[in-house]
Amino acid sequence: MSQVREASQIRDFSLAEAGELKIDWVREHMPLLRQLEVRFREEQPFAGKRISVCLHLEAKTAYLALVVQAGGAHVALAGSNPLSTQDDVAAALVKRGVTTHAWYDATPEEYRAHLRAVLDHHPQGVIDDGADLATILHQERPDQAKEIIGGCEETTTGIIRLRAMSDEGILQYPMIGVNDADCKHLFDNRYGTGQSVWDGVMRTTNLVIAGKTVVVVGYGWCGKGVAMRAKGLGAKVIVCEVDAVRAVEAVMDGFAVMPIVEAAPHGDYFITVTGVKEVIHKAALARMKDGAILGNAGHFDVEISKPDLDALSASKRRVRPNIDEYRLPDGRRLYLIAEGRLVNLAAGDGHPAEVMDMTFALQALGLREVMTNTYAPGLHMIPRALDLEVAQMRLASWQVEIDTLTEAQSAYLHSWQ
Ligand SMILES: NC(=O)c1ccc[n+]([C@@H]2O[C@H](COP(=O)([O-])OP(=O)(O)OC[C@H]3O[C@@H](n4cnc5c(N)ncnc54)[C@H](O)[C@@H]3O)[C@@H](O)[C@H]2O)c1
Repeated sequence: MSQVREASQIRDFSLAEAGELKIDWVREHMPLLRQLEVRFREEQPFAGKRISVCLHLEAKTAYLALVVQAGGAHVALAGSNPLSTQDDVAAALVKRGVTTHAWYDATPEEYRAHLRAVLDHHPQGVIDDGADLATILHQERPDQAKEIIGGCEETTTGIIRLRAMSDEGILQYPMIGVNDADCKHLFDNRYGTGQSVWDGVMRTTNLVIAGKTVVVVGYGWCGKGVAMRAKGLGAKVIVCEVDAVRAVEAVMDGFAVMPIVEAAPHGDYFITVTGVKEVIHKAALARMKDGAILGNAGHFDVEISKPDLDALSASKRRVRPNIDEYRLPDGRRLYLIAEGRLVNLAAGDGHPAEVMDMTFALQALGLREVMTNTYAPGLHMIPRALDLEVAQMRLASWQVEIDTLTEAQSAYLHSWQ
């Protein structure tokens, strides 16, 4: 334990008790992970293995790290975003034996140093978020990349990066992509982001949503959830898209669809959730009305162009915790939440525990799969059987039963006559 403490870099060890309460709270609401914790403790799938984890460091991810640890692993963890790290949870993790490198509001240099520190742990397995560990390993430590047996990655943006590496043939180890599992994107991206984005916006601004105009940029799995919940809160919703099919879907879901520059003068709130950079740029910012509030829910803080905001503004000041006011030369004020970082994590507690229970059950099962079987280097989709297993565990936890096909029905489905 003292070794773990000495190796860790966190803000304040004395916060552990508060962090433990947070972890215990989410554990109560994560029955799938609880089940896996018991199973892994018995089966020890990671016995003696070093696993490095890069995830938003809050209570739910902390519990995932503890479940992996229960499976016999030595776990080292870094945050995946300086503003989403909770210092009390970091302290609790150290107390429970997880080497932790993260503190809230780390500078970019400190943040990179924390990521490098979890790689100094010489992991054989990784849980990555946004492919940050993969990027460092391949750019700076190619020899060390070869030590990795495998890992898993949960988010859309990370999978895009890993797919690019895999297609170029340079990904040195097998990675399981969790995002494409139905039990991930259908629930985490849609219902998780949908709820937690508005939780983050509301608690940070303390303003009403009903009657306002919300512009959602990106109508993917996350955007659908953000738009659906905005509508439920009483907002008028405009969707901006670049994909014709998704735009048709948004129209048929009842939303106005138009280019961002046209939507700009109407929006009271703008939420970007595309995984693409500069989707809100100078031309759109210049047309926004006084008081418009901007938040990003995409993985990186590049979707709302901060350089463009700076260039357009005569002054900038912090007006509330996590809200920066940019004053344009004509007096209009635009408000950016959490420096354009994921609003639901940097200005909230992230997705609800019950939703992350499914995502993290997939992560834990995906990690076990890749660490205990032989996979070729490259990106692999999570096996369908694990997706179904998680859905079944979820139903069982709710005591919901469903029908099964009879033999005759199954034969009918597979016949052509
Ligand atoms: N905040 C969270 O907790 C959370 C959770 C899951 C995923 N994410 C992140 O959110 C982002 C989106 O994830 P997703 O699963 O919805 O992806 P997705 O691929 O399903 O959807 C992205 C959508 O954005 C659209 N788009 C791309 N460029 C655009 C542009 N310039 N203007 C308008 N629309 C544009 C695409 O056409 C697509 O429909 C990713 O960065 C992902 O990593 C965040």
